[in-house]
Amino acid sequence: MNVLVTGGCGFIGSNLVKYLRRVRPDWTLVNLDKLTYAGNLENLKELEGDPKHIFVRGDVANRELIEHLMAVHRIDAVMHLAAESHVDRSILGPEAFIQANVLGTQQLLEASRTRGVKRFLMVSTDEVYGSLGPTGYFTETSPLQPSSPYSASKTSADLLALAWHHTFGLDVVVTRCSNNYGRYQFPEKLIPLMVVNALHDKPLPVYGDGANVRDWLHVEDHCSALLTALEKGRAGEVYNIGGNSERKNIEIVKAILGLVGKPESLIKYVKDRPGHDRRYAIDPTKIRTELGWTPAHTFEQGLQETVRWYVDNAAWWERVMSGAYRQYFETQYRTRLNG
Ligand code: NAD
Ligand code: TYD
Repeated sequence: MNVLVTGGCGFIGSNLVKYLRRVRPDWTLVNLDKLTYAGNLENLKELEGDPKHIFVRGDVANRELIEHLMAVHRIDAVMHLAAESHVDRSILGPEAFIQANVLGTQQLLEASRTRGVKRFLMVSTDEVYGSLGPTGYFTETSPLQPSSPYSASKTSADLLALAWHHTFGLDVVVTRCSNNYGRYQFPEKLIPLMVVNALHDKPLPVYGDGANVRDWLHVEDHCSALLTALEKGRAGEVYNIGGNSERKNIEIVKAILGLVGKPESLIKYVKDRPGHDRRYAIDPTKIRTELGWTPAHTFEQGLQETVRWYVDNAAWWERVMSGAYRQYFETQYRTRLNG
């Protein structure tokens, strides 16, 4: 198998590339990544010199480049992860999200169709379903009601992929996963941001009342689900991915403070995110029963290991947080923390 992985230098992508090299050592992986602020080749340092991992810096919207890669490397399957991925950034500047997530996906789908790719795995998100009340779960047939520019752009990509199946016969499988956590997550997302701030004795900015709920999954469990969906998923089907680990944000923030031995007085409730989804919760019955996937990590153990990794790998996040990231951080939190 020759697989084109897009976004393979980001958080999930880099974990996926390393996971696939481990469990499918015969596969050749072509990793196409634009290396935006969120993409970091350092995440893949251990694959340096590996002939079965071919890194190409480029944009998924570059049709000519993609078709060239598909032809030269005789690509069988695409795992499409490349995206602008952070809700708060999509509120500050939606355009990049439309460009990468919508138009980029369109180009990739067209190239896949033209070049006869045998399977296209669209890595979507549970955020396409919008927000839940205090009860209930997202199933694959829940209405699509995205709230943020990020989730709306992902919903567009998700539906484009399904349309390319229905209209053009491209073999597409869509996965919609809940919030991931684990090593190499960019420290703008909840868990790594809180760990890094706590280690610096800086305020931990909790949006609103801190009672928003997310359903957490260890990134390696997401990777194993993606491989399962790629190999066993039925064409044209959608599979929700989740580990039944709902937590309120404030519970997580307090758990992190406990793990790094810092006081709860660092918690600072700040102005809420506009349009903030209240609760996400995935019903993963379909992927579990139909494809036989199960997660391997519990949240408590996974969180503990993840926090330890950030404590032990300060050099990684210190480099990642320099320059452009710092500028973004200041725009995002200056008014929230002072307001
Ligand atoms: P990330 O922001 O860490 O990584 C995204 C990667 O895509 C980066 O390496 C970036 O350089 C690359 N990229 C961005 N635009 C590109 C373009 N135009 N061309 C080529 N490469 C480009 O994101 P992540 O958290 O690893 O998420 C990966 C995918 O999984 C996304 O599609 C996201 O929507 C989806 N997802 C994420 C989560 C989560 O909790 N993080 C949950 C469900 C689904
Ligand atoms: P995030 O990691 O941005 O993921 P998403 O919005 O895609 O679910 O945020 C997870 C939750 O944490 C979400 O409810 C917003 C909240 N949050 C904070 O309270 N403070 C923060 O600084 C960040 C980044 C997120």
